[in-house]
Amino acid sequence: MPQSTALLDWYDRHHRDLPWRVSPADAALGVLPDPYHVWLSEIMLQQTTVGAVKSYFVAFLHTWPTIEALAAADEDDILRAWAGLGYYSRARNLHKCARSIVADHGGRFPQTIEGLKALPGIGDYTAAAIAAIAFDMPVAVVDGNIERIVSRLYRIADALPAAKKPIKQKMAILTPSERPGDFAQAMMDLGSSLCSPKKPACVLCPFTSNCEAEMAGDMERFPVKAPK
Ligand code: ADE
Repeated sequence: MPQSTALLDWYDRHHRDLPWRVSPADAALGVLPDPYHVWLSEIMLQQTTVGAVKSYFVAFLHTWPTIEALAAADEDDILRAWAGLGYYSRARNLHKCARSIVADHGGRFPQTIEGLKALPGIGDYTAAAIAAIAFDMPVAVVDGNIERIVSRLYRIADALPAAKKPIKQKMAILTPSERPGDFAQAMMDLGSSLCSPKKPACVLCPFTSNCEAEMAGDMERFPVKAPK
């Protein structure tokens, strides 16, 4: 079985139920999550944990159910609703981005990486996450958890940040053309559970025996960090 299939099978059984994901029943029908939901969650998750983001995400959607509603909001109301999440430039860019999507893109997110990256607050990571999760595009999504997993799978000896490039190349090869968004989110869930920084639970991992670090028994060395 290809490695991506093993991970997707694991995800189908063990994924986290998060408010920005579609229900398993919808996912089985091929329903993709709303780009507005994916974007909002990814901006909130940039510097904040999943546990802290959940209630903010639900509250935002309750107050501003559509990108048009968010674009029309008073910026002070957005900043007030953001209070507690920190890094307020994210909230200001959120509003700018919503207004640009409504004013310049007819209320729809661009469906290319370049188009997404031209929007306020959207960089390489967020563009890739939206493209994969909301638009089913087979692009490599790499966050900190995914860096750890991929550097272990291939025992990437380069230290960060030099390791970022080979990690992204390997992630691009691993990412399947079917369910690329679920694949990225499966990697995130694996990184937040079994493939932990310390004492990873390799016996339960769907990649077992395909993971070079696990075979060598030196998982905790990866990702290699540059000496301070
Ligand atoms: N961290 C960033 N994006 C995420 C997602 N879509 N699911 C879980 N954790 C995440």
